[in-house]
Amino acid sequence: MAGRIPDQFIDELMNRVDIVDVIGDRLDLKRAGSNYQALCPFHNEKTPSFTVSPTKQFYHCFGCGAHGTAIRFLMEYDRMEFRDAVEHLARRVGMELPQGVQDDAAARLKPLYDALAQAAQHYRQWLRRHPDRALAVDYLKRRGLSGEIAAEYGLGFAPPGRDSLVRALGNPRLLMTAGLAADRGGEIRDRFWRRVMFPIRDRRGRIIGFGGRVLDSGEPKYLNSPETPVFHKGRELYGLYECLQVNPRPPRLVVVEGYMDVVALAQFGIREAVATLGTATSTAQMERLFRSTPNVVFCFDGDRAGRQAAWAPEEATQPTKRDCHQEFLLFLPARQETDSLVRAEGVDAFRERLAQARPLSEVFFEQLAAETDTSSVDGRARLAERAAPALRKLPPGIFRDLMIAQLAERTRADTDQVEALVLAGTAARPAAKPAARPAAAVMARRPIRLAIALLLQQPALAGLVEDLERLRELDTPGVDLFVELAALARAEPSLTSAGMLERFRDSPHEATLWKLAAWEHAVPESGLEAEFRGALTWMERLLDEKRLQYLDKKLQQGALTETELHEWQALLARKPMAPLGS
Ligand code: UTP
Ligand code: MN
Repeated sequence: MAGRIPDQFIDELMNRVDIVDVIGDRLDLKRAGSNYQALCPFHNEKTPSFTVSPTKQFYHCFGCGAHGTAIRFLMEYDRMEFRDAVEHLARRVGMELPQGVQDDAAARLKPLYDALAQAAQHYRQWLRRHPDRALAVDYLKRRGLSGEIAAEYGLGFAPPGRDSLVRALGNPRLLMTAGLAADRGGEIRDRFWRRVMFPIRDRRGRIIGFGGRVLDSGEPKYLNSPETPVFHKGRELYGLYECLQVNPRPPRLVVVEGYMDVVALAQFGIREAVATLGTATSTAQMERLFRSTPNVVFCFDGDRAGRQAAWAPEEATQPTKRDCHQEFLLFLPARQETDSLVRAEGVDAFRERLAQARPLSEVFFEQLAAETDTSSVDGRARLAERAAPALRKLPPGIFRDLMIAQLAERTRADTDQVEALVLAGTAARPAAKPAARPAAAVMARRPIRLAIALLLQQPALAGLVEDLERLRELDTPGVDLFVELAALARAEPSLTSAGMLERFRDSPHEATLWKLAAWEHAVPESGLEAEFRGALTWMERLLDEKRLQYLDKKLQQGALTETELHEWQALLARKPMAPLGS
């Protein structure tokens, strides 16, 4: 794969790019004080809560919680991948990607893409012209597929011969690497034969793999391309490219079970269906979906009833979910699947079903309640215990708050108590506590939080910390992150706020940092340094207090040395402020 883009490059990019220009090209930004505002492009709203900060170089929406640097904006708004967003911004400010991370990876993969494209072309032609084509054509007819839709989705035919493709394209080694051929006892033969072929496209429309369905009752019913340098089954969504061609910003996407379901819905004009390739939906796939639409409906075949119960609580926990994102579940009647159902009952009835899909949160609580007797105190306690782990995995935000409030209501418990239970695994971290809306404005002013927020705003403040290593001795939540951040800012004085945030991309601290970066702590520009010093003093006092406790103990044991006694007296004279630890 492509070489990693060095951190320094991103830092420099964040230095040069102006997020106001980038977003201003796409949205109607209005000046509001020192910031800019617009209607949020990531959720529906009538009054603007989407804010762009020219000083901090990031955007934040107080309505839905969307936030990010210029890179993230392009990823979310223009649906670019990380790399493309970086390249795009770099071009804008006249920077060139360093040697080695340039497109040599793409060049190396080109023969694979070419082979896959040629294979698709052959499969398509064989569906139209091969002597055995009737096998496939009859099969598709039997399943009710129109010629138009087969053409639109590029369906093809892999003939019965075991080496049609190898002979047509030559270069068996390359075909093996592309997942189109396999070594069968020393001979390289076609991987797919006697199958209807569904080409799978990536986000740019390049063919990266295939799914092949047998024409009779053979096994396996579906055969997919193996993992190759360009095909990763767990990341791809069949039909997504085709959907986005029809509508680049669909209000909704429907995840169905298989290839045939996608194509059947498309044939009936429902151009919003995608399928995973025989696996459960992965986080990477969820991310893709939510980058394309705010609403995702999961449509489950009626024969998967057993799986549903186990599914909902698990899947409620997508770590990438944002407040404006919603998931719905649609369970088809017993023994029905999308493909046959839409053909049997017609498109209007099916659309009606889609409209009736129920929010995941509702189904989540209902299923849990069905398994626990909520009329007893014991039962309600069990319900809370069972729901907590799933809710704990949700990112902080309004959605999580609402789920917690619902759980409190259903267990007739106090919201704070339920919140404590849900957050038990994360409560030790700062800002892990969900903030009420608007998220950024009402965070409690804890010194460490403030210190981190100020540091993010003005990395140069790190220079004021005298003994960074000593702070590590504190076991106060957030100290580690503060030290890490301060060390980074000191090591690289040219780092900007946005650059610093980009450094924490995909780190466990990412969400916390964003929250703190967007926090309106109301410290004026002129008071930043004083506030920061105040937070440092607070940390030093904490250290003193810790040291004092240690010396107290030694004193009681009569083990204090002469020097330690002096230290003890000096510390006492300084009198740590009380109460500490809030
Ligand atoms: P099923 O095996 O349940 O297919 O797998 P199905 O819906 O009954 O198949 P049809 O309708 O007779 O053609 C469900 C879906 O999972 C995908 C296929 O898209 C399939 O339709 N799948 C399954 C794969 O992609 N690879 C596999 O190995 C298995
Ligand atoms: Mn089916």
